[in-house]
Amino acid sequence: MVIAVSSVAMATFAHADLPGPAGTTLKAAAERSGRYFGFAMGADRLNDSGFQTIARREFDMLTAVNEMKPDATEPSQGRFDFSRGDALYNWAVQNGMRVRGHTLAWHAQQPSFWRNLSGSALRSAMISHINGVLAHYKGKIFQWDVVNEAFEENGSRRSSNLQATGNDWIEAAFRAARTADPAAQLCYNDYNIENWTYGKTQGVYRMIQDFKSRGVPIDCVGLQTHFTGGSSLPGNFQQTLSSFAALGVDVVLTEVDVTNASSSQYQGLTQACMNVPRCLGITTWGVRDSDSWRSNESPLLFDSGSNKKAAYTSVLNALNAASTTVPGTTTPTSGTPPTSVPPSSRPPTSTPPTSTPPTSRPPTSAPPVTGQWSACTATFRMVNSWGGGYQGEVIVTNNGSAALSGWTVRLTLASGQTLAQVWNGVNTGTSGAISVRNASYNGTVGGNAATNFGFLVNGSTNAAPGNISCTSP
Ligand code: G3I
Repeated sequence: MVIAVSSVAMATFAHADLPGPAGTTLKAAAERSGRYFGFAMGADRLNDSGFQTIARREFDMLTAVNEMKPDATEPSQGRFDFSRGDALYNWAVQNGMRVRGHTLAWHAQQPSFWRNLSGSALRSAMISHINGVLAHYKGKIFQWDVVNEAFEENGSRRSSNLQATGNDWIEAAFRAARTADPAAQLCYNDYNIENWTYGKTQGVYRMIQDFKSRGVPIDCVGLQTHFTGGSSLPGNFQQTLSSFAALGVDVVLTEVDVTNASSSQYQGLTQACMNVPRCLGITTWGVRDSDSWRSNESPLLFDSGSNKKAAYTSVLNALNAASTTVPGTTTPTSGTPPTSVPPSSRPPTSTPPTSTPPTSRPPTSAPPVTGQWSACTATFRMVNSWGGGYQGEVIVTNNGSAALSGWTVRLTLASGQTLAQVWNGVNTGTSGAISVRNASYNGTVGGNAATNFGFLVNGSTNAAPGNISCTSP
């Protein structure tokens, strides 16, 4: 759902269906259709100002390369270490970004004590690990890759110590994650599931279908989209995305890289995502070629000298030309409406996950209202909703070319709703008419740039807030 209180009249429109000016950065272009553009960052980049300059400018979603994996976060049994994960998390939040969590259960990068366990002891260790990590990050992570790479190429389950604990290990992980952090979206993540006719794709599809039919909590599928190491963009990629989405899950491209950064493949994979309403965003696995795990294939959007490559422009243009918007976000003002909106998979937060019928997604809103010109525009997006509330996001866009030196967003919560948590902003009031001003680190918003804040609301309804306005001193 989008509620905008002002828009820029003289904007250059990149696509007839999307309001506002074309984005000149990856994140601005993605946000026009309610999507994000993310990147993977290792803790070693926390001292790399060149990397950070690009990251701050271009991206709005961070994934830790290794720092939130099981061997990093629980190096020995019951002893959790969030130092490097927190360093990346804090850096992201301080720069107005959200975070994808990667990953909770995987056959690789396990703590050594997992290797010494089996059967019910290993299963318990996995559940304890999920509980420990999610207790630490509760309410902070947009999506978790709960389980990573659990399938063989032929569509059968990958043999691993976790698989040996019983075929239900994946659903046990998802059920534990839902209970531990009801606000996080829960994803299954894998590579080589981009080609619709491939055995592995079909195996994962059958698992998601089974989970949805039995009420196992799952919200999203992460397609790693490594078109490197001999892989390339299949012609049916969009069919794969829309087929998963039709099961009632969101889809995300989580680790994109392409051999020699082929512009046509980057354009094609981006356009496929933009054509599928439930494709929420794209993450590249690194920023510059020198950051890549496959740097010899030069697979990223920036070269090792930090220059934009031709593929960057292909991606930017495809983002700006999105033909669909994410359900619950912007509604196109003309042209083909988004395809039908599948129901949300969110269960109520107040009770353990059950096979309760999924709740309906909130209806999309009317087109943005054009009013008197104002310094900034506040755009609301329903990120998640469930029986007892919702997670919202407000994008604050600077309508002018001069930097803002602070902003305040006012909005009215529906009757019976209470503000439970705010991040990237400071609130006054928790019910009815409230305001949220910038945090200490995101008050300065460059010309025509944007920042955002997020919040959680509890209440008997998940009606969107009204009367949204944005002012700048
Ligand atoms: O930190 C040590 C360093 O002290 C040591 O000198 C060096 C010697 O090899 O190793 C360093 O650790 C390496 C670590 O990356 C940090 O650079 C590990 O050996 C290496 O195995 C590890 O590789 C990571 C890989 O996952 C492990 O599976 C990559 O950085 C990371 O990009 C990669 O990410 C995966 C996703 O999680 C899942 N999908 C595939 C993707 C690419 O492989």
